[in-house]
Amino acid sequence: MGIRSKQVIILFLGIFLFSACYYDKKDQVYPQVVVTTCDTTNITYAVTVTNILNANCNSCHGTASANVSGGGILLSTYASVKPYVTNGKLINSVLQNGQASAMPKNMAKLDQCTINKLTLWVNKGALNN
Ligand code: HEC
Repeated sequence: MGIRSKQVIILFLGIFLFSACYYDKKDQVYPQVVVTTCDTTNITYAVTVTNILNANCNSCHGTASANVSGGGILLSTYASVKPYVTNGKLINSVLQNGQASAMPKNMAKLDQCTINKLTLWVNKGALNN
């Protein structure tokens, strides 16, 4: 075998080895789509709604704060929330659709799942359950 054909063989071997070592990272080729599911089963006032309001609203609309930072609006009891369901302000405020002051005030809009839960509770009659 001449020196030239040896070089050619080595060249091809080299190309083969390099291409064999090439691989794609699956996560980079197919970026993972995180599918987050929103659990809207068993929505109750006592658990779901109070948790949402306590976590996002009652720092201003709780008993101690309503008259200080909540514009006199109390959202910490069923009886106090119900009028804002009836007049549509509760949902409109979190939808931030211009039909009520956007809430939570000066903060990021609630995530869609949380809004869905509140809406579902309202659409099912806003029961004291
Ligand atoms: C940082 C304080 C603060 C937080 C947090 C907050 N609010 Fe308010 N909210 C206010 C104030 C002050 C007013 C009265 C002035 C106004 O309408 O902007 C108000 C008004 C409202 C109104 C009456 C709106 C209208 O147009 O008449 C509703 C309903 C309401 N808030 C619901 C909520 C809900 C639901 C949350 C949580 C998702 C929330 N708020 C979080 C301060 C807050």
